[in-house]
Amino acid sequence: MDKLIIEGGRPLKGEVRISGSKNATLPVLAATLLTDETCVIANVPKLMDTNTMVRLLKSLGKVVDWDKDKLIIMSNGKMNPVADYKLVSTMRGSICVLGPLLAKLGEAKVSMPGGCVIGVRPVDLHQKGVEALGAKVAFDGGYIVAQAKRLKGARVYLAGASGPSVLGTANVMMAATLADGETIIECAACEPEVEELANFLNAMGARIRGQGSPRIIIHGVKKLHGADYRMSSDRIEAGTFVLLAAMARSNFVIRDIDYSQLTALDDVMHNVGVTVQAEKNLVKVKSPKVLKPFSITTYPYPGFPTDLQAQYIALMSLTNGVSVIRDTVFPDRFMHIAELNRMGARIRREGGSAIVEGVKSLCGAPVVASDLRASAALVMAGLVASGKTEIRRVYHLDRGYENIDRKLTGLGASIKREKE
Ligand code: UD1
Repeated sequence: MDKLIIEGGRPLKGEVRISGSKNATLPVLAATLLTDETCVIANVPKLMDTNTMVRLLKSLGKVVDWDKDKLIIMSNGKMNPVADYKLVSTMRGSICVLGPLLAKLGEAKVSMPGGCVIGVRPVDLHQKGVEALGAKVAFDGGYIVAQAKRLKGARVYLAGASGPSVLGTANVMMAATLADGETIIECAACEPEVEELANFLNAMGARIRGQGSPRIIIHGVKKLHGADYRMSSDRIEAGTFVLLAAMARSNFVIRDIDYSQLTALDDVMHNVGVTVQAEKNLVKVKSPKVLKPFSITTYPYPGFPTDLQAQYIALMSLTNGVSVIRDTVFPDRFMHIAELNRMGARIRREGGSAIVEGVKSLCGAPVVASDLRASAALVMAGLVASGKTEIRRVYHLDRGYENIDRKLTGLGASIKREKE
């Protein structure tokens, strides 16, 4: 296992390029299971999670080759409907092979992803969605087993207690592409990753409209064909760099960013006193001497993303007042609080909220990364803290941030990787 060692306080300057979107890539790769023809996906980030998805696709009957930032995905002629526990347990995103396997093969046996440190991760909405299309679903030995001779279009309401489900919407939308007749998903997730998946499916010959809105309408077709597609940039990585620039009071350039996907963050930045100048596909961030505290609540898109909550708490730890950060999407996602407090932050948890009392500065400390976005928050804190920060279990970071040490070194940070 690797750890990162950061000497904080170095000025950050220059330019950083945002990679392809991890959360959009995973369901797009799963969607290639819907065809026997070749698909070529470009701008794929080289991450632990995309590699896990590649291994999963191979185990399900695909031949997959990398060509620089492209993945070429072909059929090996024989598909397997079982997504094994060993692969699924390392990455919750694997659940999105359920819909494509079911639609293509009439059966799918996908290991239940289980919980994770960000909270309980149920699959009831995935189940409800495919059942509405006529599948029989059972749970057996830790697997969700779905079967249907032929899926049939239906109207399905797909929100749970915490709102819509991103991968639940993705699964039902993918299953519905090959169903008989029309499917209407009400209260669908509006995340750009769902929109991107629908665009890719349409490039494969699907007939989907309404993507990006809470009502998605899918006309089933007989067959999907291969397609070439380029992934858009990662809005969460982009948001993380915006928050880092604000926290480090640096005005480095962030390139290949689609800032239109970060309206909620932009609004919050304005309230904190930070100016973000956006033009075409790049932004520059300008921070005031003193950051203002500003309370937020995370919501499904277009609300403030839960995937930026930890990084925002890191930023709020350096304001001149108190802010309250509430997570309605994953109310237990607060493992980073204790670690940030080890660096001198003053944060306490109350139910699904973090109460952050701003401090003047943070100091380096040995800390442990608990999950992907929490790791990013610790890296941000380490970069602005005085002295040395050692972040253990950094593999979480490698799941979702491509070449993060190289990108930060390029900005002038002192960061090195060592074996634990
Ligand atoms: C995706 C993202 C993840 C992000 C999350 C919310 C990927 C690979 N992951 O995860 O980074 O944090 O969206 O934006 O794209 N829920 C149910 N029943 C279900 C499914 C979900 O109640 O069947 C609940 C969850 O517990 C959570 C909420 O719905 O409270 C949203 O979760 P969901 O959108 O499904 O997250 P993922 O799609 O797994």
